[in-house]
Amino acid sequence: ALVTSTEMFKKAQAGGYAIGAFNVNNMEIIQGIVEAAKEEQSAIILQVSAGARKYANSIYLRKLVEAAVEDSGLDIVLHLDHGENFDIVKQCIEDGFTSVMIDASHYPFEENIRITKEVVDYAHAHGVVVEAELGRLAGVEDAVKVKKEDATYTDPDEAVEFVERTGVDSLAVAIGTSHGAYKFKGEPRLDFERLEIIGKKLPNTPLVLHGASTVLPEFVELCNKYGGNIPGAQGVPEEMLRRAASMNVAKINIDTDLRLAMTAAIRKFMYENPSEFDPRKYLGPAREAIKGMVKHKIKDVLGSSGSN
Ligand code: G3H
Ligand code: 13P
Ligand code: ZN
Ligand code: NA
Repeated sequence: ALVTSTEMFKKAQAGGYAIGAFNVNNMEIIQGIVEAAKEEQSAIILQVSAGARKYANSIYLRKLVEAAVEDSGLDIVLHLDHGENFDIVKQCIEDGFTSVMIDASHYPFEENIRITKEVVDYAHAHGVVVEAELGRLAGVEDAVKVKKEDATYTDPDEAVEFVERTGVDSLAVAIGTSHGAYKFKGEPRLDFERLEIIGKKLPNTPLVLHGASTVLPEFVELCNKYGGNIPGAQGVPEEMLRRAASMNVAKINIDTDLRLAMTAAIRKFMYENPSEFDPRKYLGPAREAIKGMVKHKIKDVLGSSGSN
């Protein structure tokens, strides 16, 4: 069924693992993720950004996710990723989303609290859970660009006050991750000390890690080998994600790794089969690449196998 993340997060917190939250934009992406989750009998979150809603037309995504629930028999959360304001949250709740993120992290603290609280009150009245963000990640999304020098890590005491005053269900924290394929210039570094302090101060709040793709070298190399040009791409090492999942991080967001897996498979196919022009011939391998990558994440990184 389409469910909220409440029970999923409780089990993940108790079991020391995390639920994967994967960004979806079309049918093949949804199918690849859900087939992997089904084989692993894993709980999953499918999340939709504003850009995804604009690209696919949200009704198509909602119907595809409904089909995925029916076909897989899994419990799946349909989540709004980086909701910009009250209106988009309201629209998604009307559309049947079971979880929403309100991202007012770029506003001053008091304003973030005010906006988040308004969303929480509305969402809870409709049986929908809310993720909010405190602190700012660097990096690029469709909607926002945050420069390195404007990024700020989450302050643990502010986090406590924020959760108390908003009643939010889960909290995205900034500890050094960033969106996109270029997360670190030199050695990857996350502030685990900060993560641990936040976890101790907020033992009952599931924490969320955005910008958590690993930028798997295997796919970057395939892209570059078959005509791509993505030099210097670097993500969060999987060992760090395992460590975060064993702590109070209950939700780990992955989009870039899906994009890279899909593009690598399509580039390879196009290069090796220049006379093919049936989209199923390259979208099929793209879907398989996503499935393989997501299975690996579930089994070897998130630890969520069998959680459904
Ligand atoms: O957080 C950003 C996600 O990767 C979604 O990206 O806004 O380009 O769909 P998007
Ligand atoms: P990545 O760019 O690391 O995949 O992060 C995705 C994300 O945080 C979506 O909200
Ligand atoms: Zn994000
Ligand atoms: Na965890």
